[in-house]
Amino acid sequence: MRVRSPATSANLGSGFDVFGMALREPYDLIEAERLPERAVELEIVGGYQVPLKPEENTGGYVALEMIRDFDIGGGVKFRIWKNIKPGSGLGSSAATAAAAAYAVNKLYGLGLSATELVEYAARGELVSAGAAHVDNVASAIYGGFIIISSRNPLKIYSIRPPSGLGAVVVLPNVEKGSTRRAREVLPSSIPLHHLVHNVGAASTLAAGMALGDPEMIKWGMRDVVVEPARSSAGIIPEYDGVKALGERFGAGVAVSGAGPAIIALIEREKRSELAVALKEFYRSRGYECVVYVTEPGPGVSEF
Ligand code: HSE
Repeated sequence: MRVRSPATSANLGSGFDVFGMALREPYDLIEAERLPERAVELEIVGGYQVPLKPEENTGGYVALEMIRDFDIGGGVKFRIWKNIKPGSGLGSSAATAAAAAYAVNKLYGLGLSATELVEYAARGELVSAGAAHVDNVASAIYGGFIIISSRNPLKIYSIRPPSGLGAVVVLPNVEKGSTRRAREVLPSSIPLHHLVHNVGAASTLAAGMALGDPEMIKWGMRDVVVEPARSSAGIIPEYDGVKALGERFGAGVAVSGAGPAIIALIEREKRSELAVALKEFYRSRGYECVVYVTEPGPGVSEF
């Protein structure tokens, strides 16, 4: 079978570890086939390189876990076109993990629910991030916008974003280091007024998704906790400048996941103009970048 698995943007500013959104582009393509023997094989046939040992690869690890848990008598081979850059903040590891969970479930007729697939895919995140955060994998499985309402027990709500909502994603050519490191720089406690701010912003964003109101969505992306901490730690280059630029264009701007990619949400017809301005902004500061003019998209699927 052939599977398409989307890039995802976690947090959307105010919803750290809670909000996520699947993007129409970029995406990985994965071919999966059954093996007669109980083994997991991986091959990268295009794009970025990732670990090929199954226990070190987010998708390979997920497949090993599912084969063991369901006592499957065979194995699986994955051939991967890795278009989503690892360490970019665009859910590269989650895309592989979600594709693996989806493919093994289908190839062996396990009949798992979407929530169960998310739990398996989250085990892949442990391999790469050291924490089984589920915001990226849930977005990759469900598509659209998701809310991790509770982690234990896992409860996910999924909302279809308004059709007029577009996204511009900018990936500057800097190495942010690991997601693990980007989590280590976060404060272990926060002042009450920061909590009040972020709850207000996140509620507005979620309500905006449900009501189909782009202004509420953009307004609700403002975070005063996680992004400033990561910016101060030097993980998000030009953070203040890029936020200010986005605001001038009427966009909501957030760090995508743990960065360094930035996601700007804006009406579809205003995307191109913003994309050009963002690219020029980074270039003027000495960074080359890849820009995706995209929109919310579907979850992992066969094609
Ligand atoms: N919510 C996670 C974080 C996403 O910000 O650390 C990592 O991709």
